[in-house]
Amino acid sequence: MRAAVVRSFGGPEAVDVVEREVPVPAARQVRIKVAAAALNPVDAGVRSGVFGGAGKEIGLGWDVAGTVDATGAATAWSVGDEVVALDYGMVKPLGTHAEYVVVDAGAVAAAPATVDAVHAATLPLNALTAAQALDLLDLAPGASLLVTGAAGAVGGYAVQLAARRGLAVTGLAREGDEEFVRSLGAAGFVTGQAAPAAYDGVLDAAVLGEPALAWARDGGVYAGVIPQAQPASVRGVRTDAVEVSADGARLAELVRLVDAGVLSPRVAEVFSLADAAKAHARLAEGGVRGRLVLIP
Ligand SMILES: NC(=O)c1ccc[n+]([C@@H]2O[C@H](COP(=O)([O-])OP(=O)(O)OC[C@H]3O[C@@H](n4cnc5c(N)ncnc54)[C@H](OP(=O)(O)O)[C@@H]3O)[C@@H](O)[C@H]2O)c1
Repeated sequence: MRAAVVRSFGGPEAVDVVEREVPVPAARQVRIKVAAAALNPVDAGVRSGVFGGAGKEIGLGWDVAGTVDATGAATAWSVGDEVVALDYGMVKPLGTHAEYVVVDAGAVAAAPATVDAVHAATLPLNALTAAQALDLLDLAPGASLLVTGAAGAVGGYAVQLAARRGLAVTGLAREGDEEFVRSLGAAGFVTGQAAPAAYDGVLDAAVLGEPALAWARDGGVYAGVIPQAQPASVRGVRTDAVEVSADGARLAELVRLVDAGVLSPRVAEVFSLADAAKAHARLAEGGVRGRLVLIP
């Protein structure tokens, strides 16, 4: 099978599409025939060496939508099941940017019925991160929340999930994103360095750091999206950072929210797996709205 890998860290040109053996699932694992796999900022980080692993061949890709085509012992999944999954791991021999991927059965959920695989492939990493970040914030209904990067993948899902939890959401995004961010359920919108009010919570999906922390009220709460890199607590603001974990049951809840029209997966552009390096180059240009998705 073909798989996108990086063998020597660098820019988009460091991505190679190579021939590898089709992986075999062990107990409590399934193999997915990949229909679509999103390209995320973490893949660019892996490619450029942010997460280490020098000297190894590293498989790229965390998000997948596809069809179960082999199962190890002791899984509830069957060949032919349409699924989505998060393949967590910075340094792994193969990822989801491939024709087949083996994942833990516990990371898998049935695919949404109302969107195609290309859209479904944008769900696992970013919707799980948004949901788990909101868990960290632990705000009660009615509390105010500022989401930075609200037009991004994590931020967009966070706005939708937070609005559904009954939070009063304000989105911070680029000027041209206001209409989109409000369409996600944000009651308020801010852009640039406009000094927002003091919010009960801040979810900093744009990775602004201390400026975003300054927008939390005294005694409020801040959640970053870079693990262990949250700013130090000030003014009694609790600071934390989310590190996504694969959770098939939680992913199944998020799939149900897609089918209920609560979450709206957003696709920017589709590339063939053979053009994985071109997709990385497009991501590196910046300004992408919605995910870039690879199809084998
Ligand atoms: N901790 C975890 O487990 C975890 C999991 C998933 C993602 N992440 C991280 O979360 C971050 C967000 O990921 P993503 O996939 O949501 O990225 P994304 O889709 O690129 O979204 C980021 C958004 O923030 C916007 N933004 C950046 N600076 C801004 C500013 N000063 N003012 C207004 N908007 C600004 C960007 O706009 P422009 O495009 O115009 O710059 C973009 O719309 C990444 O760093 C990613 O690695 C962490």
